[in-house]
Amino acid sequence: MLVAGATGVLGGAVARALHKEGARVALAGRDGGRLAALAQELGGAPASTLDALDLDRCSAVVGEAADALGGLDLLVVAIGVAAFGPADGEDAAVIEQLLTVNTLAPMALVRAALPRIGKGGAVAVLTAILADYPTAGMAAYSASKAAISGWLTAVRPEQRRRGVTVFDVRPPHIETGLAGRAIAGQAPPMKEGATVDQVVGMIVDGLRDGRRELRYDLQKAELALR
Ligand SMILES: NC(=O)c1ccc[n+]([C@@H]2O[C@H](COP(=O)([O-])OP(=O)(O)OC[C@H]3O[C@@H](n4cnc5c(N)ncnc54)[C@H](OP(=O)(O)O)[C@@H]3O)[C@@H](O)[C@H]2O)c1
Repeated sequence: MLVAGATGVLGGAVARALHKEGARVALAGRDGGRLAALAQELGGAPASTLDALDLDRCSAVVGEAADALGGLDLLVVAIGVAAFGPADGEDAAVIEQLLTVNTLAPMALVRAALPRIGKGGAVAVLTAILADYPTAGMAAYSASKAAISGWLTAVRPEQRRRGVTVFDVRPPHIETGLAGRAIAGQAPPMKEGATVDQVVGMIVDGLRDGRRELRYDLQKAELALR
Protein backbone atom coordinates (compact mmCIF):
# COMPACT_ATOMS: atom_id res chain seq x y z
CA MET A 1 0.00 0.00 0.00
CA LEU A 2 1.22 3.50 -0.79
CA VAL A 3 0.30 6.53 1.32
CA ALA A 4 1.07 9.81 -0.48
CA GLY A 5 1.19 12.79 1.87
CA ALA A 6 2.40 10.55 4.66
CA THR A 7 4.10 13.42 6.53
CA GLY A 8 0.74 15.12 7.02
CA VAL A 9 -1.42 14.61 10.11
CA LEU A 10 -4.11 12.47 8.42
CA GLY A 11 -1.67 10.77 6.01
CA GLY A 12 0.66 9.82 8.86
CA ALA A 13 -2.22 8.53 10.98
CA VAL A 14 -3.57 6.44 8.05
CA ALA A 15 -0.08 5.01 7.38
CA ARG A 16 0.33 4.07 11.07
CA ALA A 17 -3.16 2.53 11.19
CA LEU A 18 -2.59 0.45 8.03
CA HIS A 19 0.80 -0.69 9.35
CA LYS A 20 -0.87 -1.71 12.61
CA GLU A 21 -3.39 -3.74 10.59
CA GLY A 22 -0.47 -5.67 9.12
CA ALA A 23 -0.26 -3.95 5.72
CA ARG A 24 3.07 -3.47 3.99
CA VAL A 25 3.14 0.30 3.60
CA ALA A 26 5.27 2.51 1.34
CA LEU A 27 5.38 6.25 1.98
CA ALA A 28 5.61 9.36 -0.19
CA GLY A 29 5.90 12.92 1.06
CA ARG A 30 7.57 16.26 0.58
CA ASP A 31 9.78 16.51 3.67
CA GLY A 32 12.61 13.96 3.42
CA GLY A 33 13.56 14.20 7.11
CA ARG A 34 10.07 13.64 8.51
CA LEU A 35 9.44 10.95 5.90
CA ALA A 36 12.60 9.06 6.94
CA ALA A 37 11.56 9.26 10.61
CA LEU A 38 8.13 7.80 9.84
CA ALA A 39 9.64 5.13 7.58
CA GLN A 40 11.87 4.06 10.49
CA GLU A 41 8.92 4.08 12.92
CA LEU A 42 7.06 1.76 10.52
CA GLY A 43 9.85 -0.80 10.48
CA GLY A 44 11.87 0.52 7.54
CA ALA A 45 9.02 1.25 5.12
CA PRO A 46 10.11 2.20 1.57
CA ALA A 47 9.90 5.99 1.17
CA SER A 48 10.00 8.39 -1.80
CA THR A 49 10.03 12.16 -1.73
CA LEU A 50 7.66 14.09 -3.96
CA ASP A 51 6.64 17.67 -4.57
CA ALA A 52 3.03 17.57 -5.75
CA LEU A 53 3.71 20.53 -8.04
CA ASP A 54 5.81 18.12 -10.16
CA LEU A 55 3.18 15.88 -11.77
CA ASP A 56 5.75 13.60 -13.45
CA ARG A 57 7.23 12.97 -10.00
CA CYS A 58 3.74 12.03 -8.73
CA SER A 59 3.60 9.27 -11.35
CA ALA A 60 7.19 8.19 -10.64
CA VAL A 61 6.72 7.66 -6.90
CA VAL A 62 3.91 5.18 -7.59
CA GLY A 63 6.31 3.10 -9.69
CA GLU A 64 9.00 3.33 -7.00
CA ALA A 65 6.56 2.13 -4.32
CA ALA A 66 5.26 -0.74 -6.48
CA ASP A 67 8.83 -1.84 -7.27
CA ALA A 68 9.87 -1.70 -3.60
CA LEU A 69 6.77 -3.61 -2.42
CA GLY A 70 6.66 -6.06 -5.33
CA GLY A 71 3.22 -4.78 -6.39
CA LEU A 72 0.49 -2.43 -5.27
CA ASP A 73 -2.99 -3.16 -3.85
CA LEU A 74 -3.94 0.22 -2.46
CA LEU A 75 -3.16 3.91 -2.85
CA VAL A 76 -4.19 6.53 -0.28
CA VAL A 77 -3.73 10.19 -1.28
CA ALA A 78 -3.61 12.60 1.68
CA ILE A 79 -1.81 15.60 0.19
CA GLY A 80 -3.59 18.92 0.16
CA VAL A 81 -3.39 22.64 0.79
CA ALA A 82 -5.97 25.24 1.87
CA ALA A 83 -6.44 28.91 0.96
CA PHE A 84 -8.94 31.45 2.19
CA GLY A 85 -10.33 34.83 1.15
CA PRO A 86 -12.91 36.31 -1.23
CA ALA A 87 -12.71 35.14 -4.86
CA ASP A 88 -12.37 38.66 -6.29
CA GLY A 89 -9.09 39.03 -4.41
CA GLU A 90 -7.67 35.58 -5.13
CA ASP A 91 -4.21 35.46 -6.60
CA ALA A 92 -3.72 33.46 -9.84
CA ALA A 93 -0.58 31.74 -8.50
CA VAL A 94 -2.45 30.63 -5.36
CA ILE A 95 -5.31 29.22 -7.46
CA GLU A 96 -2.81 27.38 -9.64
CA GLN A 97 -1.14 25.84 -6.59
CA LEU A 98 -4.52 24.80 -5.11
CA LEU A 99 -5.63 23.15 -8.33
CA THR A 100 -2.26 21.45 -8.83
CA VAL A 101 -1.83 20.06 -5.30
CA ASN A 102 -5.51 19.28 -4.59
CA THR A 103 -6.68 18.19 -8.04
CA LEU A 104 -4.00 17.48 -10.66
CA ALA A 105 -1.51 15.74 -8.34
CA PRO A 106 -4.09 13.28 -6.89
CA MET A 107 -5.25 12.60 -10.47
CA ALA A 108 -1.65 11.89 -11.54
CA LEU A 109 -1.09 9.58 -8.53
CA VAL A 110 -4.35 7.68 -9.14
CA ARG A 111 -3.73 7.43 -12.90
CA ALA A 112 -0.29 5.95 -12.27
CA ALA A 113 -1.61 3.55 -9.63
CA LEU A 114 -4.71 2.15 -11.37
CA PRO A 115 -2.93 0.04 -14.01
CA ARG A 116 -0.86 -1.57 -11.23
CA ILE A 117 -3.80 -2.33 -8.90
CA GLY A 118 -5.69 -5.56 -9.52
CA LYS A 119 -9.08 -6.98 -8.55
CA GLY A 120 -9.90 -6.36 -4.90
CA GLY A 121 -7.62 -3.30 -4.70
CA ALA A 122 -8.57 0.32 -4.08
CA VAL A 123 -7.61 3.94 -4.45
CA ALA A 124 -8.68 6.39 -1.73
CA VAL A 125 -8.36 10.16 -2.01
CA LEU A 126 -8.96 12.65 0.79
CA THR A 127 -11.03 15.34 -0.89
CA ALA A 128 -13.20 17.36 1.54
CA ILE A 129 -16.68 18.35 2.68
CA LEU A 130 -16.19 21.36 0.35
CA ALA A 131 -16.96 19.06 -2.59
CA ASP A 132 -20.50 18.67 -1.18
CA TYR A 133 -20.81 22.19 0.23
CA PRO A 134 -18.75 24.74 -1.77
CA THR A 135 -18.19 27.52 0.76
CA ALA A 136 -17.98 31.32 0.56
CA GLY A 137 -14.52 32.63 1.36
CA MET A 138 -12.97 29.40 0.03
CA ALA A 139 -14.05 29.48 -3.63
CA ALA A 140 -10.90 28.14 -5.32
CA TYR A 141 -10.22 25.72 -2.46
CA SER A 142 -13.82 24.44 -2.85
CA ALA A 143 -13.42 24.21 -6.65
CA SER A 144 -10.20 22.18 -6.33
CA LYS A 145 -11.90 19.65 -4.04
CA ALA A 146 -15.16 19.52 -6.07
CA ALA A 147 -13.09 18.87 -9.23
CA ILE A 148 -11.14 15.93 -7.79
CA SER A 149 -14.30 14.51 -6.19
CA GLY A 150 -16.17 14.75 -9.54
CA TRP A 151 -13.27 13.06 -11.32
CA LEU A 152 -13.33 10.18 -8.80
CA THR A 153 -17.10 9.81 -9.32
CA ALA A 154 -16.53 9.39 -13.06
CA VAL A 155 -13.62 6.97 -12.64
CA ARG A 156 -15.53 4.75 -10.15
CA PRO A 157 -17.77 2.89 -12.66
CA GLU A 158 -14.83 2.48 -15.05
CA GLN A 159 -12.89 0.71 -12.32
CA ARG A 160 -15.82 -1.24 -10.88
CA ARG A 161 -15.64 -3.50 -13.95
CA ARG A 162 -12.02 -4.28 -13.01
CA GLY A 163 -12.93 -4.96 -9.37
CA VAL A 164 -11.04 -1.87 -8.14
CA THR A 165 -12.77 0.41 -5.61
CA VAL A 166 -12.57 4.20 -5.85
CA PHE A 167 -13.05 5.66 -2.35
CA ASP A 168 -13.77 9.40 -2.02
CA VAL A 169 -13.11 10.56 1.55
CA ARG A 170 -14.83 13.91 2.18
CA PRO A 171 -14.25 14.80 5.84
CA PRO A 172 -15.52 17.91 7.63
CA HIS A 173 -13.17 20.28 9.44
CA ILE A 174 -10.70 18.42 11.68
CA GLU A 175 -8.18 20.18 13.92
CA THR A 176 -5.00 19.04 12.17
CA GLY A 177 -3.52 22.53 11.69
CA LEU A 178 -4.16 22.40 7.93
CA ALA A 179 -6.12 25.67 7.99
CA GLY A 180 -3.27 27.40 9.84
CA ARG A 181 -0.85 26.25 7.10
CA ALA A 182 -3.02 27.88 4.39
CA ILE A 183 -1.06 29.16 1.39
CA ALA A 184 -3.15 32.37 1.40
CA GLY A 185 -5.59 34.19 3.67
CA GLN A 186 -6.82 33.38 7.13
CA ALA A 187 -9.29 30.68 7.99
CA PRO A 188 -12.61 31.84 9.45
CA PRO A 189 -13.58 30.27 12.79
CA MET A 190 -14.58 26.68 12.01
CA LYS A 191 -16.29 24.08 14.16
CA GLU A 192 -14.59 20.71 14.31
CA GLY A 193 -16.88 18.09 12.73
CA ALA A 194 -14.75 15.03 13.50
CA THR A 195 -11.51 13.95 15.16
CA VAL A 196 -8.43 12.48 13.47
CA ASP A 197 -9.05 9.12 15.19
CA GLN A 198 -12.68 9.01 14.03
CA VAL A 199 -11.85 9.80 10.41
CA VAL A 200 -8.84 7.48 10.24
CA GLY A 201 -10.83 4.65 11.83
CA MET A 202 -13.58 5.10 9.24
CA ILE A 203 -11.03 5.26 6.38
CA VAL A 204 -9.56 1.92 7.49
CA ASP A 205 -13.07 0.42 7.88
CA GLY A 206 -14.06 1.80 4.47
CA LEU A 207 -10.98 0.32 2.80
CA ARG A 208 -11.63 -3.06 4.42
CA ASP A 209 -15.30 -3.06 3.36
CA GLY A 210 -14.83 -1.70 -0.18
CA ARG A 211 -16.77 1.54 0.50
CA ARG A 212 -17.11 4.30 -2.11
CA GLU A 213 -17.58 7.39 0.06
CA LEU A 214 -17.00 8.85 3.48
CA ARG A 215 -19.31 11.84 3.74
CA TYR A 216 -20.35 14.35 6.41
CA ASP A 217 -24.05 15.23 6.63
CA LEU A 218 -24.32 18.82 7.87
CA GLN A 219 -28.02 18.49 8.85
CA LYS A 220 -27.44 15.38 10.95
CA ALA A 221 -23.91 16.44 11.92
CA GLU A 222 -22.66 12.93 11.31
CA LEU A 223 -20.08 11.03 9.29
CA ALA A 224 -21.31 8.14 7.17
CA LEU A 225 -19.71 5.49 4.99
CA ARG A 226 -21.46 4.44 1.80
N1 LIG B 1 -7.96 18.91 8.29
C1 LIG B 1 -9.15 19.15 7.75
O1 LIG B 1 -9.97 19.88 8.30
C2 LIG B 1 -9.52 18.48 6.46
C3 LIG B 1 -10.87 18.45 6.10
C4 LIG B 1 -11.23 17.87 4.88
C5 LIG B 1 -10.26 17.36 4.06
N2 LIG B 1 -8.96 17.41 4.44
C6 LIG B 1 -7.95 16.90 3.50
O2 LIG B 1 -7.19 15.89 4.09
C7 LIG B 1 -5.88 15.88 3.50
C8 LIG B 1 -4.83 15.86 4.62
O3 LIG B 1 -4.94 17.05 5.37
P1 LIG B 1 -4.38 17.21 6.87
O4 LIG B 1 -5.51 17.79 7.66
O5 LIG B 1 -3.72 15.96 7.33
O6 LIG B 1 -3.34 18.38 6.69
P2 LIG B 1 -1.73 18.36 6.69
O7 LIG B 1 -1.25 17.76 7.94
O8 LIG B 1 -1.33 19.76 6.39
O9 LIG B 1 -1.40 17.40 5.47
C9 LIG B 1 -1.31 17.87 4.15
C10 LIG B 1 -0.22 17.13 3.45
O10 LIG B 1 -0.10 17.64 2.11
C11 LIG B 1 1.28 17.77 1.84
N3 LIG B 1 1.56 18.75 0.79
C12 LIG B 1 1.11 20.00 0.68
N4 LIG B 1 1.64 20.58 -0.41
C13 LIG B 1 2.45 19.66 -0.98
C14 LIG B 1 3.29 19.63 -2.09
N5 LIG B 1 3.42 20.70 -2.91
N6 LIG B 1 3.99 18.50 -2.37
C15 LIG B 1 3.86 17.41 -1.57
N7 LIG B 1 3.09 17.37 -0.48
C16 LIG B 1 2.39 18.49 -0.19
C17 LIG B 1 1.89 18.21 3.16
O11 LIG B 1 3.27 18.00 3.11
P3 LIG B 1 4.24 18.54 4.28
O12 LIG B 1 4.10 17.51 5.36
O13 LIG B 1 5.56 18.57 3.64
O14 LIG B 1 3.72 19.89 4.66
C18 LIG B 1 1.15 17.29 4.11
O15 LIG B 1 1.77 16.04 4.15
C19 LIG B 1 -5.81 17.10 2.60
O16 LIG B 1 -6.11 16.74 1.26
C20 LIG B 1 -6.93 17.96 3.12
O17 LIG B 1 -7.45 18.85 2.14
C21 LIG B 1 -8.56 17.94 5.62
